[in-house]
Amino acid sequence: MVPELLGPPLATPEETRAWGARLGRLLHAGDLVLLTGGLGAGKTTLTQGIAEGLRVRGPVTSPTFVIARIHPSLVDGPPLVHVDAYRLGGLAELDDLDLDTSLTDSVTVVEWGHGLVEDLTEDRVEVTLTGEEVRQATVAAWGERWDGAPLDGLGVP
Ligand SMILES: Nc1ncnc2c1ncn2[C@@H]1O[C@H](COP(=O)(O)OP(=O)(O)O)[C@@H](O)[C@H]1O
Ligand SMILES: [Mg+2]
Repeated sequence: MVPELLGPPLATPEETRAWGARLGRLLHAGDLVLLTGGLGAGKTTLTQGIAEGLRVRGPVTSPTFVIARIHPSLVDGPPLVHVDAYRLGGLAELDDLDLDTSLTDSVTVVEWGHGLVEDLTEDRVEVTLTGEEVRQATVAAWGERWDGAPLDGLGVP
């Protein structure tokens, strides 16, 4: 595991989106990002930023009633698959959904993924959001994909 990295304090939804956009610009096809945090923690807001950084078509909204939504790229990059794992038994079920894109061709962002999807892939990033007003993000990354990788840019200087 890449040692846990502390993000900057995120005081507003705009700051959370801006920081998410920085993360989004680091992501490639095949990447899996887990977003952990309670209801209202800012997971969907962060995903909006990731979508902006990836330059995929919005709007990104809570996937609560659809399980997964595909956002195609606006720039010939990978699509974003935005998943609510809360409604999913695990990512194996995501394969069963028969989305029009495969996990290896997409960037997959899973809300509530903790404890559900770890088995699917060795390479993954987990962002945990805590805090009431000001959100605090911590980032951990696993697998070869992130060995010595440039997540440092996401931390507080
Ligand atoms: N610093 C902040 N970062 C993210 N969201 C914030 C922040 N401050 C207030 N909010 C608000 O909190 C709510 C977060 O909701 P959402 O992103 O849907 O959370 P989740 O997906 O984790 O349930 C939004 O209404 C957002 O405007
Ligand atoms: Mg949400």
